[in-house]
Amino acid sequence: MSRLSDVAHQLVAPGKGILAADESTGTIKKRFDTIGLESTETSRRDYREMLFGATEAMQNYISGVILFDETIRQAGADGTPFVEMLKANNCLAGIKVDTGAKPLPFHNGETVTEGLDGLRERLAEYGKIGAAFAKWRGVIAIGENKPSRASIVANAQALARYAALCQEAGIVPIVEPEVLADGAPGDHTIETCERVTTETLAEVFEQLRIAGVELDGMILKPNMVIPGLNGPKVSVAEVAERTLRTLKATVPAIVPGIAFLSGGQTCEQASANLSAMHNLGDLPWGLTFSYGRALQAEALAAWGGKEENVEAARRAFVHRAKMNSLASLGRWAADLDRAA
Ligand code: 13P
Repeated sequence: MSRLSDVAHQLVAPGKGILAADESTGTIKKRFDTIGLESTETSRRDYREMLFGATEAMQNYISGVILFDETIRQAGADGTPFVEMLKANNCLAGIKVDTGAKPLPFHNGETVTEGLDGLRERLAEYGKIGAAFAKWRGVIAIGENKPSRASIVANAQALARYAALCQEAGIVPIVEPEVLADGAPGDHTIETCERVTTETLAEVFEQLRIAGVELDGMILKPNMVIPGLNGPKVSVAEVAERTLRTLKATVPAIVPGIAFLSGGQTCEQASANLSAMHNLGDLPWGLTFSYGRALQAEALAAWGGKEENVEAARRAFVHRAKMNSLASLGRWAADLDRAA
């Protein structure tokens, strides 16, 4: 097996998934606003140290952590670099390398993700710091006359160029085309999400092939097929069926793993939906989580920015990570979740 393929398989090892802790400075400020905490370099460091120091979660349930540029260069309060803390717990370090979604000209608020200029050099540096994998997120919005063909193609092409550059640098790309559930107005149906996700993933794999990306040396990070957050509600069974149908129609079996984003789902929904997919028969790829909010929300609330709450916050994080580990094996259950 090639090294890229080996790392990709490690990321989706049975019972493990990815912690997305790569919130940009703007996004982490929004998260800290919910607990009334000022976002400073130190508070961001303390928060990430709370998570990465939850050894029971990191050793048993988390295969890799996606970091932001500032975070991959940071160290815990005792001076141990975060990358070393992760390594000590057998977790791979990942790095968000896109520079954000920017307006696509002539397209009514749609975006294309930027960050390709200078990416080869940045990847070389991140590789030296210890990154084994990377992430790039393209954003596809649903609305009146959206998404346009232009936004799907532009984002798929950028994802493909990013993925090829990563592989050239010996870094496993996480390819993340997110069809938004929590965008405005967010009232679309699950059928619309399925149609748009199918079209998006088909275009992404077309562009990956054109760019020469090795499909056995990458991870796909898609949205689940769900209605908009203000749209008509559906059952867990329907989400699981439609999501798997969409993925089977578009994702080649040679791709080692699929690791979902949570996209504004509640913690319990994100666990329930993932678990249900594993109960629908054998799957050709590893299928797990790469959650941000759905792994962190409970720990963030329990922490509240206070040193004395670190242990309680870690317990909350361990519980959530364990629930998602069980979900990635099809063994999550609501009563286990609520028993904590
Ligand atoms: P959420 O799980 O909060 O959607 O975040 C995952 C992520 O990495 C988005 O890029």
